[in-house]
This record gives sequence, structure tokens and C-alpha cells, in this order.
Amino acid sequence: MTTTVTSEGGTPTAIDQLRSAINRMTTEAETLAALILALGHRSGDVELPEAMVKPLETIADHVTPDLGAIDLGPLRAVASLGRAMLIQAAGFAAHPTEPSAWAVTDPVVMQSLGQGSAALGPAVANLVVPRYDGLAARLGEPDAAILDVGVGVGALALMFADLYPTATVVGLDVWEPALALARENVARHGSAGRIDLRCCDVAEFDATEAFDLAWFAGPFIPEPNVDRGLRRVRDALRPGGVVVYGAFGGPTPLAAALADLRTLRSGGPVLTDDEIAQRLRQAGFDQIETVGTDVGLPARFVAGSRTR
Ligand SMILES: C[S@@+](CC[C@H](N)C(=O)[O-])C[C@H]1O[C@@H](n2cnc3c(N)ncnc32)[C@H](O)[C@@H]1O
Repeated sequence: MTTTVTSEGGTPTAIDQLRSAINRMTTEAETLAALILALGHRSGDVELPEAMVKPLETIADHVTPDLGAIDLGPLRAVASLGRAMLIQAAGFAAHPTEPSAWAVTDPVVMQSLGQGSAALGPAVANLVVPRYDGLAARLGEPDAAILDVGVGVGALALMFADLYPTATVVGLDVWEPALALARENVARHGSAGRIDLRCCDVAEFDATEAFDLAWFAGPFIPEPNVDRGLRRVRDALRPGGVVVYGAFGGPTPLAAALADLRTLRSGGPVLTDDEIAQRLRQAGFDQIETVGTDVGLPARFVAGSRTR
């Protein structure tokens, strides 16, 4: 067993342990910042003084020796998500009671988080859709339709459009700055004709038996709108249609506490899997399925089907 001793030769006290924990985490935060800059420089997105490049490359090489094997697209996506999370963490330390960067108009952060959320699409397709009989086939039909509640900058909606090439995707959001970026992103994408962006609160959404799959961005929907929103989604789904309530999560107590803080800052209610399942049942869903996944950040899905 290794015994750590302090500079005075004694066993570490609480303050020694705290100091060493903060030292370790500070090094990690600095490493993350350096790594993000190194990735940005490699992908041609960030210009840096020549003298910085070598130490940044040394740090990047230390973290991932095989960086050269990664394509530019995934490299950019990973770097921008890391950057957005770092900026959010710094914002939290400085302004704990202000909402997350998602609620301020920082297009870089919004785009980065949106890109990060696109990874939820394959996770839903692979982990949730196969659990419901006939849903995968339904989503391949020419009239398949997907509802994205909390469409943000549209990155996840575009991912759904790629995953289900016959489906139309309706994206709802209440926040015009996000919708403005979503319109630009959609216009640049090949499936623009299949994506319909609407400025609409999910609690006021009025559609009947029109969708096969609905994504519900749980951490971002304020508590007063959740139950009514879920009922509106239930009515908007065709019989057999499935809602996926997405939530932040974490496999350890530390990750779970961080997820709760992220949810609070995002404006939504902190709910356990059982509480989400209960909300879904009250809104008229059954066949509840809970799935945990890791898409860069740990996430939880609680899904339910409109069987009646
Ligand atoms: C973090 S974003 C989702 C990111 C998104 N997946 C993307 O690809 O950019 C969640 C969105 O939910 C929106 N939102 C919050 N309350 C809402 C409500 N009541 N109805 C519809 N959208 C809402 C927020 O404005 C925010 O843009």
C-alpha cells in the first residue's frame, strides 16, 4: 500500500486532500482547454501563435496518440462539444444562478451543443426503436413522421432525417435565436424539404395522430409545460407511436449529481426514471422502457408507447 505524506512528513489532512484534488482537476481543465485548441488548430478552425502549437500538440498526443486516424467531421464534433461543456462549466462557476449557455445567444455554444445532441439520434434508433414491435418498419414507410420537441439548432432533427430517409421531421421550439440557427442549418442540408421548423410551445402543440416517433428534450422543458406537453405529444402520435423522454443521467453518484445540476441549469425538472415513467403513464403512454446510454455525456431515455 502506498502511503502519501505531506511536505511536513505527516499523513495528509483534509486540506491536503482537497488541495491535491483541486490541483488534479485544474490540470484536467487546463488539459481539456489545450486539447480543444489543438483539435481546432488541426482542423483549421483556430489560428494560434506558432510558439503555442508544439506544447498543444504534445498535450493532444498525450491524451490521444492516434489523433491522425480520426476524420475531420468527428474531430470537429468532439472538439466543439468539449468546448461548449468547458464554457458552460466556467459560466456555472461564475454565475451559478443564471441559466445555461443554451439560454444565452452564443451561437458557437448553441451549435456545439446541438451537434453534440445529434449523437442521440443513433442511440434512439439502436436502443429504443427495436424495443417496440413494428416501429422500425413504420419509420421506413413513405409517410413516416417524427416530432422533435425542443429542436434547438436542428442538429438532432437533421440526424433523424438522415437515419430515416423517407420520414418528415417536425421540430418545435419556443426560442427564436435557436430556430434562426436551425433554419440556416436545415437550408444547408440535403433533406431540407423534409424538415418543418415551428415556433411553438409543446404545451400548445395541436396535432392528432400524425407522428410515429417523438423526441422530448426533457431537461429543457420547464416543469409547468411537461405534463401538458406530454399529453399533447400523446395526442399527436399515431396509435403504436412512441415518445422518448430524454434526460441527463450518470452511472455513479458523482455523474448523477452533475446531471441533476445540468438539468436545473437547463430549466427542466430533475426527475428519476420512475418519476418520468409515472409522468408518461399519466399522459396516456404505456409499454414504458428505460435505457441508459453514453453519447459523450451519459443520457437516459424513458420511452412509452401510445397503444390506445
Ligand atoms: C438543448 S435544445 C435541444 C438541442 C437540439 N437537439 C439540437 O439539435 O440543437 C432544447 C430546446 O428546447 C426548447 N424548449 C424549451 N421549452 C420548450 C417548450 N415548452 N416547447 C418547445 N421547445 C422548448 C429550448 O428553447 C431549447 O432550444
